[in-house]
Amino acid sequence: MGKQTPQTSGSTYQAVFDRAAQDPAGFWLEQADLLDWHTPPSRGLDYDGAESWQWYPDGQLNITYQALDRWVEQGRGEQPAVIWDSAMTDQQVTYSYAELLDQVARLAGALRANGIERGDRVLIYMPMIPEALIAMLAVARLGAVHVVTFGGFASKEVATRLDDATPKAVLAANGGVEPARAIRYLPNVADAIERANHKPDVVMVKQRAEIDDAIADFDSSWLDLDEQLWANQPVDAVPVAATDPLYLLHTSGTTSKPKAVVRDQGGYAVASAWSVPNIYNIEAGETMFVASDVGWVVGHTYIVYAPLIAGATTVVYEGKPVGTPDAGAFWRVASEHKAKMIFSAPTAYRAIRAADPTGDQWQRYDMSALDAVFSAGERLDEDTYHWLGEVTGKPVVDHWWQTETGWPIVANLRGLDPMPLKAGSPSVAVPGYQVGVVNPLGEPVQPGAEGNIVIKLPLPPGAMVGLYGEPERFHSSYMAAFPGYYETGDTGYMDDEGYVFVLGRSDDVINVAGHRLSTGTLEAVIAEHPAVAETAVIGVADGLKGQKPVAYVVLTAGTDIAPQQLSEELVAKVRHDFGAVAAFRDVEIVWGLPKTRSGKILRRTMRSIVEGDDVSAPATIDDAGVLDTFAEQTTRF
Ligand code: COA
Ligand code: AMP
Repeated sequence: MGKQTPQTSGSTYQAVFDRAAQDPAGFWLEQADLLDWHTPPSRGLDYDGAESWQWYPDGQLNITYQALDRWVEQGRGEQPAVIWDSAMTDQQVTYSYAELLDQVARLAGALRANGIERGDRVLIYMPMIPEALIAMLAVARLGAVHVVTFGGFASKEVATRLDDATPKAVLAANGGVEPARAIRYLPNVADAIERANHKPDVVMVKQRAEIDDAIADFDSSWLDLDEQLWANQPVDAVPVAATDPLYLLHTSGTTSKPKAVVRDQGGYAVASAWSVPNIYNIEAGETMFVASDVGWVVGHTYIVYAPLIAGATTVVYEGKPVGTPDAGAFWRVASEHKAKMIFSAPTAYRAIRAADPTGDQWQRYDMSALDAVFSAGERLDEDTYHWLGEVTGKPVVDHWWQTETGWPIVANLRGLDPMPLKAGSPSVAVPGYQVGVVNPLGEPVQPGAEGNIVIKLPLPPGAMVGLYGEPERFHSSYMAAFPGYYETGDTGYMDDEGYVFVLGRSDDVINVAGHRLSTGTLEAVIAEHPAVAETAVIGVADGLKGQKPVAYVVLTAGTDIAPQQLSEELVAKVRHDFGAVAAFRDVEIVWGLPKTRSGKILRRTMRSIVEGDDVSAPATIDDAGVLDTFAEQTTRF
C-alpha cells in the first residue's frame, strides 16, 4: 500500500547521496512519485543559480489529500491516524484516517463559511490536543496558510505574530494543562489582540472541559470550534500550486523580531514522504511517537504532516517526560501504542535520567516494538548518549536540523544502510543537503577543524523558501556571508569520514530545554522596565536545560529600586509577556556592559567570563575597564 521510494530497497547511502548531489532536479522529480499529485510536475526544480529556487514549479496538489484522502481511498480508512495520549488528563482518543479526514474536512468547511480562502493566514494557538492537528490540516485543506504559535508563549509573542502574519482568523484552545497548573490561553488571546495593530476577523475556540474559561467570559463574537465543526459540511481539498505557501513558522533570530520561515506545499510533502522511510525506517501502518510540540518545527513535520503523508500512525502526547506520573512516561506511551520509534530532545532524556538513573522504569515495559531512540533540538551530550544506549539497548540516533530546513540536515539514515553511530555526532549529510564547514572567509577548512557549517544552494525540497515579507532579511540572514551557500548559524566540524559534529550557535540565539530563543526578544521585554537602562541576556550552560538565560542589567540613573524587587519584577514580566518557557530566573545588576568600539555587546566574552573561562580583552573592546568590572561583579555559574 502506498508508493515506495525508488531508493528504499537495496540502495546504499552513498549512492543515494551522490545521485541527489549530482542531479538534484532529477533525483527529486523521481521522489515526487511518492505522492498522488493533482497535476504531476514535469520539472523537479527551477533554479536561477543564485538565491532563488522553486521545487516542482508546475505541479499541483493539496498536502492534506496526500495525508488523508488518498489513504482512505486506498483502504486505510480504519487504520489509526492519530492516537492522542494525554497523561495530563488521563485520556486516550484514537482517530482513524476516515475519522480524521471527516473532522478536517468539516473544520475546513467551517473556515470557508467564515470567509477563509486560499492564501489567507490563520493563526493557531493550541496545546497538544487533536484539534491542533485538525486545525492545521483544515487550514491547509483550503490552501490557506497556518501560523502556529507555541502554547508556552504568552500574549506579546502572539501579538508579534498577529502583526507579522496579519491572519484573518485565530483558532485557539481555551487552555493547556501543565503539571502544576492550567494555562489559560484566552486572556493571552484577548491581550494579544488588544496589543496588536492587526485584528483578526474571526476567532474560534476549542473549549476544553479541564479549563474554566468560557468564550462568553471574553468576547461574544468569538465562535465555538466544536459547534462550527458540526454545523458545516465537509469540503474537498483545494488543489494549489506546489509552490504555494503551506505555513509560516516563526523562529528566533538575532533581533527581537522573530523570522517567519515560509514552507511550501509540494517540496515539503515530498521531503516528508521521503524522510519517514529513509531516515526513520517507518513504513505505512507503523507508529511514530515524537514527544515534542506542534508549536515547533519537529511537531509540524514529524507529529503532523510526515507520519500522515507516509500512511503511519502518529502519537500525540500531552504530558512530560517525568512527573506525569513518573520517569517511565515516555516508555509507557511507546510501549502501549507499539511505537517503532521515539524522538525527543536531549533535555527530556536528561530529565528522565535524573529521575531514574538506573533505568528501572524502562524495565517495566515491553519495548520490543521499538527500533530506535531519536534525539534532536540541541546537542546530545556524550554522557546522555551513552546512558540512553545502555538503558534502552537500542540505537540512539542524534540528528541535526533547524526550523529553517524543516527536516534533518544531518542524520543516520536508518532506512538506507545505517552507518556506525558515533557519540557526539548526528552522523552524515542527508541526501539533498551538501554540507560543508568554512572559515570566516568562506574557505573550506580541513577535516577536524572548527568553522561555520554551511549548505550549498539550492536547499532541498521541504526547506524554507523565504522569510515572509522580508526578502532582504532572507538574503542578509542566510545567504550574504557565504555566497552560494546557506549559513546555518551553527559552528562545528566534520571528521575525515564525513561525520558532522555540531558545537553551538555563532549568533545570539540560545537553546533552553530544546526551545530556541532569541536573546534580543528577551532583552526587549526586560528593557521596557523603567529601572532598566540597558540589558544583555546571554545563555549560560545548564546541566538539565542545556542553557539558561541570564540577564545583565544596568540601572537607570537615579533609580532606587531594591535589587531583589527588580529581579522579581523582571522575572514576572518575562513570564507574563514572553512566556514561562524562557525559564528565566537570573538577573544580575552590573555597572556596565562590555562592548566593542562600534557599540556591539560582547556577549560571547561575557559568557566565557561567567562560565569561568580565562578571558583576555578582545582587541575591538571599547573600554577594558568595563570588562574588568563586569568580571568582578558577576557570579560564576
Ligand atoms: N504551555 C504553557 N507552559 C509551558 C509549556 C506549554 N506548552 N511548555 C512548558 N511550559 C512551562 C512549564 O510549565 C514551565 O513552567 P514553570 O516555570 O511554571 O514550571 C516552564 O514553561 C519551563 O518549561 P520547560 O523548560 O519546557 O520545562 P518542563 O519541565 O515543562 O518540560 C521538557 C521539560 C523536556 C518536556 C520540555 O522542555 C520539552 O519538551 N523540551 C523539548 C522541546 C522540543 O521539542 N524541541 C524541539 C526539538 S525535539
Ligand atoms: P530549531 O530551529 O528550534 O529547531 O533549533 C535549531 C537549532 O537547534 C540548531 O541551529 C542548533 O543550534 C540546535 N540543534 C538542533 N538539533 C541539534 C543537534 N542534533 N545537535 C546540536 N544542535 C542541534
